[in-house]
Amino acid sequence: MAYTEDYDVLIIGSGAAGLSAAITLASEHKVLVLAKGAISDGSTAWAQGGIAAVLEPGDTFDSHIEDTMVAGAGLNRRETVEFVVENAPQSIDRLIQYGVPFNREGDDDLHLTREGGHSHRRIVHVDDATGWAVQEALERAANANPNITMVPDMVAVDLILDRHLEQPTGEQRVWGCYALNRQTGRVEAITAPATILATGGAGRTYLFSTSPRGATGDGIAMAWRAGARVSNMEMMQFHPTCLYNLEVKNFLITEAVRGEGGHLLIPAKEKGQPGYRFMGDFDDRMELAPRDVVARAIDHEIKRLGLDYVHLDISHKPPEFVKGHFPTIYEKLMGLGIDITQEPIPVVPAQHYTCGGVLIDLKGRTDLPGLYAAGEVSESGLHGANRLASNSLLECFVFGDAAANDILENWNDMSTPPKVQPWDESRVTDSDEEVVVQHNWREIRRFMWDYVGIVRTTKRLERANNRVKLLASEVEDYYGNFRVTADLIELRNLVEVAGLIVRSALDRKESRGLHFTSDYPDLLDVAQDTLLEP
Ligand code: FAD
Ligand code: SIN
Repeated sequence: MAYTEDYDVLIIGSGAAGLSAAITLASEHKVLVLAKGAISDGSTAWAQGGIAAVLEPGDTFDSHIEDTMVAGAGLNRRETVEFVVENAPQSIDRLIQYGVPFNREGDDDLHLTREGGHSHRRIVHVDDATGWAVQEALERAANANPNITMVPDMVAVDLILDRHLEQPTGEQRVWGCYALNRQTGRVEAITAPATILATGGAGRTYLFSTSPRGATGDGIAMAWRAGARVSNMEMMQFHPTCLYNLEVKNFLITEAVRGEGGHLLIPAKEKGQPGYRFMGDFDDRMELAPRDVVARAIDHEIKRLGLDYVHLDISHKPPEFVKGHFPTIYEKLMGLGIDITQEPIPVVPAQHYTCGGVLIDLKGRTDLPGLYAAGEVSESGLHGANRLASNSLLECFVFGDAAANDILENWNDMSTPPKVQPWDESRVTDSDEEVVVQHNWREIRRFMWDYVGIVRTTKRLERANNRVKLLASEVEDYYGNFRVTADLIELRNLVEVAGLIVRSALDRKESRGLHFTSDYPDLLDVAQDTLLEP
């Protein structure tokens, strides 16, 4: 089946941001939602800890705003932080209406957990598997709406611009996208008066990441190639506690484990002996310092002592408490032979969240007319130099909705898409060297981990820059000669995004939030975004 019939709005991405936008838009419009694999394959379904909102008596918007700004090292845009924080309680109400079964205390009150950088308990959650419950509820609401069509296995390749029209008009705007239909192997042109990018982050640019396989920064790369500005791409968040296991490489141990009293320890030399609780040597907030601080401290201790991992220990709490709060982690680790009620968990930092992205305003508008962005693909000004825990799903709901509302309000000014040229495959053949794609995938992720990781230097960044340039020309050559596959599309985007991260990291001549470089260890007086212009 080809998806060339008329839709009012095209949404690329079926996670929290894409589906929130779709549900709001569907009150008046026909919406097509694309996913490059299964509908629930994005990061949303993997979220563990929860969603931040001011709901506790004694907590205030000002306090949530302040915590967000402190974590973001002052790089946040205050008006965005206020906008998101003030819209949080109503986003939670909406999720409750969709049937998200948040944990409760007693009959009525929502149970609020705590995470690093938050000065109050303000995280609503569904045990330790919040994302799955959210994704299920949003999909249920979307499926029930006849105006929403969700299509899996459609990989957006590039945005449709004026130069792709049969008769270009000279107007620089986006008219939809070309997408590879994995069922047919054909690339289809899908047009719509408005397009929303909700493609998630770019975690898989790194060798070790908590993100799912599809987090290859496709939306950021597509928007950049189309001419939109991207910002703060050097601000890659590393989560302090990813399970260290030689077989299971990207299982997150939620920050809520530390929020509920977990300790970080240098492993004891002998089994059964207590480890050394080291966070006090780095920050008075101990395990509840913001993520950048905790991840850097762990990285420092691992390198200083030549360790493979540090320990995260919650076994001093009663077993029923641990199992009750963290049933998914308990079960998963029991399956790997670790009983977290009795012994510590080996953990290492891993890439977790892309703070930078496609620059948007408070209505989700990008630089390009007709193109909106929401969620992890975007840089809205909320996170600044480091995202505060559990502010990300929140951003997806608030900006998914904001983009949808802007489209609803301005619908009468949106034009019907003109005729578009079909995808041109006349000059390409099937690939005869798939090894190039696989090799380059591995190479990028390795050098990004080694050279553009938690602690950076100019020399290492320059090395990474040289490699990006080489790979970019190799991949472009390959892309120009062979028929596109999902792996090739992702590889092309990975190289593009790796280049944006390295360029941004080289541009920042200070250490702020997630960007720490030994060559510029100090903070400059004025916080400035790293803005890249195509
Ligand atoms: P995603 O949910 O990642 O969805 C991306 C969508 O885009 C997918 O449908 C994908 O198929 C589609 N897509 C991508 N590229 C293409 C393409 N080329 N063509 C077509 N479709 C495409 N945040 C919190 O606030 N609280 C938490 O507790 C929390 N826990 C987390 C735990 C883990 C393990 C991880 C990885 C992240 C966590 N986060 C958490 C972050 C949060 O989950 C994500 O930032 C958020 O879910 C991103 O949602 P999204 O809608 O922007 O993108
Ligand atoms: C976690 O549960 O630790 C992840 C929370 C987040 O990424 O916001």
